[in-house]
Amino acid sequence: MEHRCGHHQKVRGACKTQAQQRQFIYDYALSPSEEKMLFPKATKEYFGFMPSVKKNVSSEEMKTISEFLVNYQAVK
Ligand code: HEM
Repeated sequence: MEHRCGHHQKVRGACKTQAQQRQFIYDYALSPSEEKMLFPKATKEYFGFMPSVKKNVSSEEMKTISEFLVNYQAVK
């Protein structure tokens, strides 16, 4: 069975194509927002709101990361 983390099940549920999934992760990591959030509101209350990675990750790097995450399959 395919095993992925919660993040990706949500993203995969919300975005049909892999290109859309990559775009969602890319956009969210660079500018997280409550409107974009797929997790329940309680997640934010518990963990706080995700900070943007903009200061630390370039858009080129973020492209590579989102591609990696969409293709990622956890080792069983
Ligand atoms: C390149 C690095 C990162 C990527 C690609 C990434 C991506 C994401 C994505 C896709 C979500 C899901 C939003 C949703 O569907 O609701 C999320 C949520 C979250 N992330 Fe990250 N993240 C990154 C780094 C971080 C870092 C460094 C932190 C904390 C220091 C963090 C904290 C959180 C938290 C608390 C949430 C849940 C609350 C929220 O949506 O704001 N993330 N992240």
